[in-house]
Amino acid sequence: MSDSSVRALLVGCGGMSGAWLGAAATLDDVEIVGLVDLDADRALARRDEYELSQAQTGTDMVRLLEELRPDVVFDCTVPEAHTHVTTTALEHGCHVLGEKPLADSMANARASLEAARKANRIYAVIQNRRYDPNIRRLRRLLDSDAIGPLTSVDADFYLGAHFGGFRAQMDHVLLLDMAIHTFDAARLISGADPVRVYCREWNSSGSWFAHGANAVAVFEMTDGIVFTYRGSWCAEGMNTTWESDWRIVGERGSVLWDGGEGIHGESVSQSGDFRSEMSPLTIPDSAPDDRIGHHTGLMREFIDRVRHGGEPETVAHDNIKSLAMVFGSIDSASEGREIAIDL
Ligand SMILES: NC(=O)c1ccc[n+]([C@@H]2O[C@H](COP(=O)([O-])OP(=O)(O)OC[C@H]3O[C@@H](n4cnc5c(N)ncnc54)[C@H](O)[C@@H]3O)[C@@H](O)[C@H]2O)c1
Repeated sequence: MSDSSVRALLVGCGGMSGAWLGAAATLDDVEIVGLVDLDADRALARRDEYELSQAQTGTDMVRLLEELRPDVVFDCTVPEAHTHVTTTALEHGCHVLGEKPLADSMANARASLEAARKANRIYAVIQNRRYDPNIRRLRRLLDSDAIGPLTSVDADFYLGAHFGGFRAQMDHVLLLDMAIHTFDAARLISGADPVRVYCREWNSSGSWFAHGANAVAVFEMTDGIVFTYRGSWCAEGMNTTWESDWRIVGERGSVLWDGGEGIHGESVSQSGDFRSEMSPLTIPDSAPDDRIGHHTGLMREFIDRVRHGGEPETVAHDNIKSLAMVFGSIDSASEGREIAIDL
C-alpha cells in the first residue's frame, strides 16, 4: 500500500460512531472520505460535528463504495446489519474493521469470515476492552507465572443500564450485546479457548428489557480451566465496572481485579499448615509494548496492518471463538443442557 492516507468509509452514524470518528481524528494517516447511514440526517450531523467537510454522505453504501473507492470500511451499524455491510465492503476490495459483535449468528459470522478469506482482506472486530491498560497489566502479571497455571476464572457483571433504543427490544440482550466483551476478556485473561458451556438466561421481574437481561454460565475451557460468568443489565445498585469484577485462581495463588486500576493478588510463600502462608504480589505497570488505547489503539493496529501486512489481534477468525461462547450460551439456555462449543 502507498504512503498516502488510508481512505475510510464509515457506515452507521449512530451513538458509537462518535468514538470511531474521535479515534480516527487522532490518526494522521486516516482520512474519512464518506459517511453512510440509512438516516441521511445522521450522516450529515456526524460530518458537521467532526468537521469532515471533505466527506461525502449518503444512504447508499454501494454507490459511495463505487464512487469513493475507499481502502477500508468502518462498520458501526447495528448487529443485524454487520454481515451485509461487511460482505459488501469485502466484495468491493475493502478491509473491514467492524463493531462487536462480529455477527448476529454463527452462520453469518462464518459467511463474513469466508468473504474475507476469498477477498484476501482483513476483517477485524473492535473488541476495544482488550485495549484497556489494566487488563494488559493483569495479563502481564499472569504471564509472569505469579500464581502458577490457572485453574479457574470468575467474572461478575452487574449494571443497571437504562439504554432505551434497539437494546430494549433485543432478544438475548445481555449475552448478545454485552457478554461478548466479558467472554472475550476471559479468553485474553485465561489464554484459553472455550470447549463446553452450561447457561441459564432469564429476564428478571422489574426488568426494563424485553428479553434476557440476566445470565449465569459455566464454561469448560482448554487446559481444564473453568470460567464462570454471572451477569445482569437490570441490577440497580452496587454496580460492578463495565469490565466486571474478576477472581483468577492458579495452583499457587489468586488475583482479584475490579475491572479498573484495582489489581490485588497473593501467592503461596510457605505451605504445609492447614492454610498456606501467603505473600502479596507486586502488580506490574503497563509496558510500552502493551496493546492499549481503547478504540484508538485498536484502530491504530488495524491501520498499521492494512498498510504493512499482518493481522490485528482481534482479527475475525480469532474473534469468532468469543462469539461462539455467546451463541453456545444462548443455545444452552434455550435447550436447557450443556453444549459443546462449535468453533
Ligand atoms: N465497543 C463498544 O464498547 C460498544 C458500545 C456500544 C455499542 N457497540 C456496538 O456498536 C454498534 C452500534 O451501536 P450504536 O449504539 O451506535 O447503535 P445506534 O442505533 O445508535 O446506531 C446504529 C446506526 O446504524 C445505522 N444503520 C443500521 N443499519 C444500517 C445499514 N444497513 N446501513 C447503514 N446504516 C445503518 C442506524 O440508522 C443507526 O444510525 C452495535 O453493534 C453495538 O453492539 C459497541
